Amino acid sequence: MDTSTTHRRRSGWRAFAIGTALLATTLGVAAASRSQNAPPQAGPDSYVGDDTCLTCHEGQGYKGTAHGRSANPRTPAAVQGCESCHGAGKAHVDGEGDKTKIVNPKNLGAREASDTCTTCHNRKTHALWDGSQHDSRQVGCVSCHSVHAPVGDKQLKAKDEVTLCGTCHKGMVNKQFRFNHMPVREGKMSCSSCHNVHGSTNVKLLKAGTTIDESCTSCHAEKRGPFLWEHAPVAESCTTCHDAHGSNNDRMLTAKQPFLCQRCHVTSRHPPTVYEGYTLQASQNANKIFGKSCVSCHQQIHGSNAPSGKAFLR
Ligand code: HEC
Ligand code: HEC
Ligand code: HEC
Ligand code: HEC
Ligand code: HEC
Ligand code: HEC
Ligand code: HEC
Ligand code: HEC
Ligand code: HEC
Ligand code: HEC
Repeated sequence: MDTSTTHRRRSGWRAFAIGTALLATTLGVAAASRSQNAPPQAGPDSYVGDDTCLTCHEGQGYKGTAHGRSANPRTPAAVQGCESCHGAGKAHVDGEGDKTKIVNPKNLGAREASDTCTTCHNRKTHALWDGSQHDSRQVGCVSCHSVHAPVGDKQLKAKDEVTLCGTCHKGMVNKQFRFNHMPVREGKMSCSSCHNVHGSTNVKLLKAGTTIDESCTSCHAEKRGPFLWEHAPVAESCTTCHDAHGSNNDRMLTAKQPFLCQRCHVTSRHPPTVYEGYTLQASQNANKIFGKSCVSCHQQIHGSNAPSGKAFLR
C-alpha cells in the first residue's frame, strides 16, 4: 500500500500545512498553487479529533470503508481523520458548526478538492495525476469517488466502472455492446485493465508502455515481435486493424475482410477488389477472394518468423 508508508514518513508539519492551505481556501485567501510546501501555521491545538466531530455529525462517519479502517490511533487525528480532509476543525466546533470555518470539498473547485486527496494519494499509480487528462479537464477525485456514501468497490460513486465511465464516455461504453468486444461485459476485464484514469506515461491514459502497441502486447505478448518478416501496419499500430473497445466484425476488426486488407493492398497480384476477377470464374486468382478471408491463407498476419514467411502464409 502506498499511502500508509507515506503517512509514516510524513512529518507533522506537513499535515499542518495541509490544514492551513485548506482553511486559507475557505477564507477566500488565494491558496498557494498546487504545492504542499506552504509554511505551517495551524498548530496542533487547532485540531479536535474524530470523536468530537462525530458528536454532531453522527451519520457522516466512514466506518467500514478504507478511510475508517486505516485510522491509526497512534497517529494524530490531524493526519488520519475527518480533519485530514476537512482541515483543522477547532474553530468550526467553537463556532458551534460555523460553516465558514470548515472545508467542504464539495464546495471547492475540482482541482482544489483533489489536492486534499493527493496529500496522501500521490505515489505509484497516483504519481502522475497532476495535469493528467482528467485533472486538467476539471474531473476530480470526488467526481468518481465518494468518501461518505460510496456505491461501488473502491469507493466509486457508481456500482461499477462501466456505469461510472459511461456517465461521461457513453460512446466507449456502448462499444462493449457490439458483436465483438473485449470481455469487459463478461466481467473478465474492466476499463482499468487497460487505462489508469489517475494518469499515465502513455497516450490516452493507457496503463502499460508508452505506445498503444506496447499497451496491447503487455497482454498479447506473442504479437510483440520483432519478427523476421514484419507486417508494416502491425509494427505501426494495432488499432489500424482492431478497435480496442469492440466492433461489429470478427476479432474486433475495424473493417470486414477482405475490405480491411484492400484498404492498402489494392495492387496485389490477387484480384484487388471484388469487381476484378471475383465474379470472373476464369481468373486464376478468383479463389484468393473466395471465402472473403485473406487470412485463411495469410495466417501469420501479425508477422512471421518462418524463413519462407515473407507472405505471412506460415
Ligand atoms: C457542535 C457541533 C459540531 C461539531 C462538534 C462539528 N460540527 Fe461540523 N457542522 C455543524 C453544523 C451545525 C453544521 C451545519 C452548518 C450549516 O448548515 O449552517 C456543520 C457543517 C459541517 C460541514 C459542512 C460545511 C459546508 O460548508 O457545507 C462539514 C464539512 C463539517 N461540519 C465538518 C466537521 C468536522 C470535520 C468536524 C470535526 C472537526 C465537525 N464538523 C464538528 C456542527 C458541528
Ligand atoms: C478522505 C477524505 C474525507 C474524510 C477523512 C472525511 N471526509 Fe467528510 N467529506 C469529504 C468529501 C470529499 C466531502 C464532500 C461530499 C462528497 O463529495 O462526498 C465531505 C463532506 C462532508 C460533510 C458535508 C456533507 C454534505 O452533504 O455537504 C460533512 C458534515 C462531513 N464530510 C463530515 C465528516 C466527518 C465528521 C468526518 C470524520 C468522521 C469526515 N467528514 C471525514 C471527505 C472526507
Ligand atoms: C490522510 C491521508 C488520506 C487522505 C487525505 C485521503 N485518503 Fe484515501 N485512503 C487513505 C488510506 C490510508 C487508505 C487505505 C488504503 C488501503 O486500504 O489500501 C485510503 C483509501 C482510499 C481509497 C480506496 C478504497 C478501497 O476500497 O480500496 C479511495 C478510493 C480513496 N482513498 C479516495 C480518497 C479521496 C477521494 C480522497 C479525497 C477526498 C482521499 N482518499 C483522501 C488515506 C487518505
Ligand atoms: C475518472 C474517474 C476517477 C477519478 C477522476 C479518480 N479515480 Fe480513483 N479510481 C477510479 C477507478 C475506476 C478505480 C478502480 C480501478 C483502479 O484501481 O484503477 C479507482 C481506484 C482508486 C483507488 C484504489 C486503488 C489504488 O490505485 O490505490 C484510490 C486510492 C483512488 N482511486 C484514489 C483517487 C484519487 C486520490 C483521485 C484524485 C487524485 C482519484 N482516485 C480520481 C476512478 C477514478
Ligand atoms: C465526470 C466525467 C468523467 C468520468 C466519470 C470519466 N471521465 Fe474520462 N474523461 C473525461 C473528460 C472530460 C476527459 C478529457 C477529454 C478530452 O480531453 O477530450 C476524459 C479523458 C479520458 C481519457 C483520455 C482521452 C484522451 O484523449 O487522452 C480516457 C482514456 C478516459 N477518460 C477514460 C475514462 C475511464 C476508463 C473512466 C471510468 C473509470 C472515465 N474516463 C470516467 C470525463 C470523465
Ligand atoms: C483492451 C484495452 C482497453 C480496454 C479494456 C478499454 N480501453 Fe479505452 N482505449 C484503449 C486504447 C488502445 C485507446 C486508444 C486508441 C483508441 O482510441 O481506440 C483507448 C481510448 C479510450 C478513450 C479515448 C478515446 C478518444 O476518442 O480519444 C476513452 C475515453 C476510453 N478509451 C474509455 C474506455 C472505457 C470507458 C472503457 C471501459 C468500458 C475502456 N476504455 C476500455 C484501450 C482499452
Ligand atoms: C489487460 C490485458 C489485455 C490488453 C492490454 C489487451 N487485451 Fe486483447 N484480449 C485480452 C483478453 C483477456 C481477451 C479475451 C481472450 C479470450 O477470451 O480468449 C482479449 C482478446 C482480444 C482479441 C480477440 C477477440 C476475439 O474475438 O477473439 C483481439 C483481436 C484483441 N484482444 C486485441 C487487442 C488489442 C488490439 C489490444 C490493444 C489495443 C489489446 N487486445 C489489449 C486481454 C488484453
Ligand atoms: C493488418 C491488420 C492487423 C493489425 C495491424 C493487427 N492485427 Fe491482430 N488480427 C488481424 C486479423 C485479420 C485477425 C484475425 C485473424 C484470424 O481470424 O485468423 C487478427 C487477430 C488478432 C487476435 C486474435 C487471434 C489471435 O491471433 O490471437 C489478437 C489477439 C490480435 N489480433 C492482436 C493484435 C495486436 C496485439 C496487434 C498489434 C501488435 C494487432 N493484432 C495488429 C489483423 C491485424
Ligand atoms: C494499413 C495498411 C495495410 C493493411 C490494412 C494491411 N496491410 Fe498488408 N502490408 C502493408 C504494407 C505497407 C506492407 C509492406 C509492403 C511492402 O513491403 O512492399 C504489407 C505487406 C503485406 C504482405 C507481404 C507482401 C510481400 O510483398 O510479400 C502480405 C501478404 C499482406 N500485407 C497481407 C495483408 C492482409 C491479408 C491484410 C488484411 C488482413 C493486410 N495485409 C492488411 C499494409 C497493409
Ligand atoms: C487461397 C490462398 C490465398 C488467399 C485467400 C489470399 N492470398 Fe494473398 N497470397 C497467396 C499466396 C500463395 C501468395 C504468395 C504467392 C504469390 O506471390 O503469388 C500471396 C501473396 C500475397 C501478397 C504479396 C504479393 C503481392 O501480390 O503483392 C499480398 C499483398 C497478398 N497476397 C494479399 C492478399 C489479400 C489482400 C488477400 C485477400 C483479398 C489475399 N492475399 C488472399 C495466397 C492467398
